[in-house]
Amino acid sequence: MDENVLVGIEGFEDAGVYRINDELALVQTLDFFTPVVDDPYSFGQIAAANSFSDIYAMGAKPLTAMNIVCFSPKIFDPAILKEIIRGGADKIREAGASLLGGHSVDDQEIKYGLSVTGVVHPDKILRNGGARPGDLLILTKPLGTGIINTGMKGDMVSEDVVKEIVARMATLNDRAASALQSVRTHAATDVTGFGLAGHLTEMLKKSVGARLFPEKIPYFQAAVELSKSGFAPGGLYRNRDFYGKSVSGTAAPFIMDILFDPQTSGGLLAAVDPADSKAFEDAAREREVDFWVIGEFLSEPRGKILI
Ligand code: CO
Ligand code: CO
Repeated sequence: MDENVLVGIEGFEDAGVYRINDELALVQTLDFFTPVVDDPYSFGQIAAANSFSDIYAMGAKPLTAMNIVCFSPKIFDPAILKEIIRGGADKIREAGASLLGGHSVDDQEIKYGLSVTGVVHPDKILRNGGARPGDLLILTKPLGTGIINTGMKGDMVSEDVVKEIVARMATLNDRAASALQSVRTHAATDVTGFGLAGHLTEMLKKSVGARLFPEKIPYFQAAVELSKSGFAPGGLYRNRDFYGKSVSGTAAPFIMDILFDPQTSGGLLAAVDPADSKAFEDAAREREVDFWVIGEFLSEPRGKILI
């Protein structure tokens, strides 16, 4: 790697960053996955919003996108692919980015996503590390999409709930990122496959700790019943195996599950200077961004999450 690689593959960062000059750095990421909902247009929107999320988590502005498509016209109606691409294109437009092209392969299992390139000032990069003791821990979307997506595969979720979570998953994190950039935000990431506990553990970098306020953690109500009925994605158990040891203390069983629930196109998770609490609240309201203060960063115990 040359010296212009500002953020590389270490450190579980959301995207890679390459310095072009003193004023400009490129931010690059890619993400794709199998359908999480039945409606192909919604799936396209969600996959695209998820792909942009890593750009926003780095404090960057997306410029261009490329489609990544796995699809077999021998198995599926090509109209399905058209709808997926249309959903993605609408999100690309909403993000103010340009679609430059892409690549497709014949694959029995549908997959879709984007490679996104953005820009950021080299001094304004938001990393997942850098939280300071006393910082507020802020989350901008409710948890539970992993559990609900699993329930949807078992046909256990009502149309209304599907609509509610599709709307959340398809929401770009652009306005949340803008609100965070308007105040002293010391670190940020987005909550995706490793769940809240996993991504928070990566933010701690073994140099700070965190305390979660269990009663403040936002979740989709439908996830509670589904979780009680035993619906949980495999990723939830894998996350608990891997990150469970960094969590100490306990809360209601559902809360202890939702901490590890893998999210699709989840919200931003950020460390905000406590002196900017009011300023952030105002910035979020102005931009119509939902947020929850779900905890605080501590000097000790390093690398640990206290409930
Ligand atoms: Co990410
Ligand atoms: Co990613």
